[in-house]
Parts: sequence; structure tokens; C-alpha cells
Amino acid sequence: MTGMQQIVLERYCDGAPKPTDFRLETVPLPELKDGQFLVRHAWCSVDPGTRSRLSGGDSYAAALPLGKPIDGFSVGEIVESKNPDWTVGTQVFCAGGWKTHSVQSGKGFIGRVADVHGVPLSAWIGVLGVPGLTAWFGMKDVARFKSGDAVLVTSAAGPVGATAGQLAKAWGASKVVGVAGSDAKCLWLVDEAGFDAAINYKTVADLDAAIAREFPKGVDVLFDNVGNAMVNRVLPLMAMHGRICISGQVADYNLPAEQTPGIVNTKPFITHRVNMQGLVVFDFARGFPEALSTMAGMIASGALKTQEERFRGIAAMPEAFCGLFRGENTGRRVVDVSA
Ligand SMILES: NC(=O)c1ccc[n+]([C@@H]2O[C@H](COP(=O)([O-])OP(=O)(O)OC[C@H]3O[C@@H](n4cnc5c(N)ncnc54)[C@H](OP(=O)(O)O)[C@@H]3O)[C@@H](O)[C@H]2O)c1
Repeated sequence: MTGMQQIVLERYCDGAPKPTDFRLETVPLPELKDGQFLVRHAWCSVDPGTRSRLSGGDSYAAALPLGKPIDGFSVGEIVESKNPDWTVGTQVFCAGGWKTHSVQSGKGFIGRVADVHGVPLSAWIGVLGVPGLTAWFGMKDVARFKSGDAVLVTSAAGPVGATAGQLAKAWGASKVVGVAGSDAKCLWLVDEAGFDAAINYKTVADLDAAIAREFPKGVDVLFDNVGNAMVNRVLPLMAMHGRICISGQVADYNLPAEQTPGIVNTKPFITHRVNMQGLVVFDFARGFPEALSTMAGMIASGALKTQEERFRGIAAMPEAFCGLFRGENTGRRVVDVSA
């Protein structure tokens, strides 16, 4: 085979992303230089954080130029190598992008897939990829979770949120409550993932009152995946020395800066000594192997529940991505790009 397929940015997104903002193209397979190897992707992921690079202006990551392949995570097999440390046949996960193949050098976000009984290959770009690592380091190092904490997680049924809540439970939380956008998601969080309670923010009459009822002594840890309006409403409910981990801002990614809600409930930073800190998961790369091997064991033993939605064919990637912003995903969305 001499060609590969990739999805590129056709036009900058205005508001919610649309499939027409993307284009599928076929390009020649690149020639490898010394030290490089070619990975044939089996699965690629779609990630809400990608949206922050698609408006044409810089966000926490630089804007993606038009015509460039979209970023994402991939898992697959090395099919050609000019690097003696990475041999043909090795299964790897990497930041491969929305492509059928990627050229890697062994630097950056890449690792070997460990063969763990009961863990599917696609999990290495799911809970054993960036979402699980975000949950692990966000809860442990950014929120500085301690046993006995009462924890609130938003976008709780997504792969980051569901993992963050389950890790908190496993590490001794006194209570874990999730906020999610459908009754089915809330049911899964309580019945399968072991959350103590879940609140459907789309149907509850008074979300602030519902959260306050669940946390009579206040929220010790807010693990927020949603954005400023959510943080603003939970701030007055924080406990003394409460901690807020800003993991993601899915409600804000589609908004221009001037329309992003402000955070005005700042008094608890003083009165309750609340601490708020943002997270870039790659800052914790040194700890990835230990976190991954522990979470792989938890998945294999059934201690960590995951949900995955599978799509077929690289052409499905734009639609799979756009659905994230309509709340359509049930857990991690992965695409079989070999189909
Ligand atoms: N900081 C880091 O290093 C890092 C790394 C990876 C990911 N993240 C962030 O972690 C967050 C969670 O990622 P994920 O992969 O697990 O995705 P996810 O939570 O599954 O994201 C999609 C979900 O977000 C919710 N959502 C969409 N639009 C919304 C809106 N306007 N208001 C409220 N909720 C909305 C929907 O769930 P509902 O049905 O519940 O509304 C949707 O199903 C993302 O914000 C992502 O950017 C951060």
C-alpha cells in the first residue's frame, strides 16, 4: 500500500463543530527517515479538548492551521521501522491524529501496549489513555484528593469524569456525586460505576439546591470538566480548604472569549481558603507508567468500569466528534480506522 487517509481541518469552526468543517483526504505514505517508524492505526479517538484548537485563534494550545490533520490519539501496530528500539509488530499507543497511519520517532506521547487479559486494545486510547490519566493526576495531584473527601464530578459520565469519580471512591472518598445530562447516564454512574448519587442537570428543577442537598458539609473536591458557569455555581458550596481541579471546559469550547461566562463567586477563595488549579495532563508524564499499570489492573479485575462507543471507518470521525458537544456519547468514542 502506498497511500493513507487522514481528516483535515477544512474551515474554522464557528460555534458547535459541524462535519463539513472537516475533509477526508488520501495522501502518499511518508518515506521514513532514520530513527522513525510507521504505525498503522487500528483505533483513533475523538476528544472534546480538540475543539479548543479549531476556532482559528490560540487557546491553551496553538490554533491548528487550515488543511492540517486533526489531533487525536491512536493505537495500532508498527508496520515499518528505521528505529532499532521500536520493532515491527509492536503494538503502541500514540498521539497519531485522525489518520490511518502516523510516523513516530519514539518521542512525545507514545508507549507500548501491555497485554493485560480482559483489556481491549481500544482501551489504550480510552481510560488507559489520556482520559484516564487526566482523571488520575487531576484527582491525585491537582485536587490533592485525600481519603474522606466529599467529591463532586461534572460531565461525570464521560471517560474522564467517570474515571475520576471511581478513583476517588477507590481511594476512600466519603461520597462521590456526579452531574450528567441524561437519566441513562445518571443510572449508569450509580448502578455500574458506584457513584453515591448522580444529578441530571438538564431535568433537575434547581441544580444548586440539589448539589447542596448532597453535600451538607460542603464539597471538598470539585473535579470540573464543564467550565466557568459550573465552577461559578459550585464555588459557594465548597467546604473549608476545598479544592477545584479545572480539568476541562466542554461548555465553553464553542464560545468566543467575549461570550464565555465569568466567575464572580470568588469570596469562598478567602472565606473558605478554596484552591483552584488547572491541569495539563502531560505535565505528569513521569507518572504515566505506574498510573496505567494500576488502572489496567483495575479494569481487568472489574474495579474500574468503562463505557465505549465504537464507530467504523475514518470517515465517521467528524460526526463522532461533533456528537460530543450534543451530549450524545456514552463514554469514550473510538473509531476503527482500519475498516
Ligand atoms: N486538562 C487536561 O489535560 C485534559 C485532558 C483530557 C481531557 N480533558 C478534558 O476533560 C473533559 C472531559 O473529557 P472526556 O473525554 O471525558 O469527554 P466527555 O466528558 O465525554 O465530553 C462530552 C460530554 O460533555 C458534556 N457536554 C457537552 N456539551 C456540554 C455543555 N454545553 N454543558 C455541559 N456539558 C456538556 C456531555 O455530557 P452530558 O450529557 O453529561 O452533558 C457530553 O457527552 C473535557 O472537557 C476535556 O477537554 C482535559
